[in-house]
Amino acid sequence: MIIRTETPNDYVQVHNVNYVAFGNREDEARLVERIRESRYFVPQLSIVAEKSEEIVGHLLMSKAVIVEGNNQHEVIVLAPIAVKPDHQKQGIGKQLIFEGLKRCKEYKYYVVLLIGHPSYYPKFGFKPARQYGLDLKKFQVPDEVFMVCELKEDELSNIKGELKYPEAFFA
Ligand SMILES: CC(C)(COP(=O)(O)OP(=O)(O)OC[C@H]1O[C@@H](n2cnc3c(N)ncnc32)[C@H](O)[C@@H]1OP(=O)(O)O)[C@@H](O)C(=O)NCCC(=O)NCCS
Repeated sequence: MIIRTETPNDYVQVHNVNYVAFGNREDEARLVERIRESRYFVPQLSIVAEKSEEIVGHLLMSKAVIVEGNNQHEVIVLAPIAVKPDHQKQGIGKQLIFEGLKRCKEYKYYVVLLIGHPSYYPKFGFKPARQYGLDLKKFQVPDEVFMVCELKEDELSNIKGELKYPEAFFA
């Protein structure tokens, strides 16, 4: 298994990974394409899992902002993550997330947020975000699915406010 940065040669396969992982629907595959074309895209945070020259998993992390009054903090949002159904439950998702979080630290992005399954993400350090004074208005989701991972101690102590997902998420 190779975990590596996505390249343009992977785009067709990455589309397919997202399409099949999300039950043969295009929404997430298209989301990936819109984010790639936006200024919030960080190429090194689009990561693929490759097995015998086949892309079997993909993780996209991209930039977003937390806004409080006139203050803005750049953060990372994790979405989407997809592993082909016949390759799930083999730890590929886990490897992609660990690699993504490691890279975030390297690039000094210390706050990662997501909307996701509350039983899957806590093992990577994600915790319910609203308890840190973080909010999400455009997506109405229960407290436990809006999560944050702090990659540097106390990083969240000065970051409060509303997470604004970029336009790409609302097309
Ligand atoms: C969510 C998703 C990316 C996870 O990918 P994955 O590669 O299956 O994830 P992992 O293998 O790391 O972990 C999945 C589970 O399988 C278990 N598992 C890992 N390796 C295993 C193995 N060798 N044998 C059996 N089970 C295993 C893990 O323990 C984990 O279960 P747990 O969380 O209860 O502990 C994948 O299920 C997916 O693509 N789903 C559809 C798309 C989606 O919903 N994406 C998330 C929203 S953006």
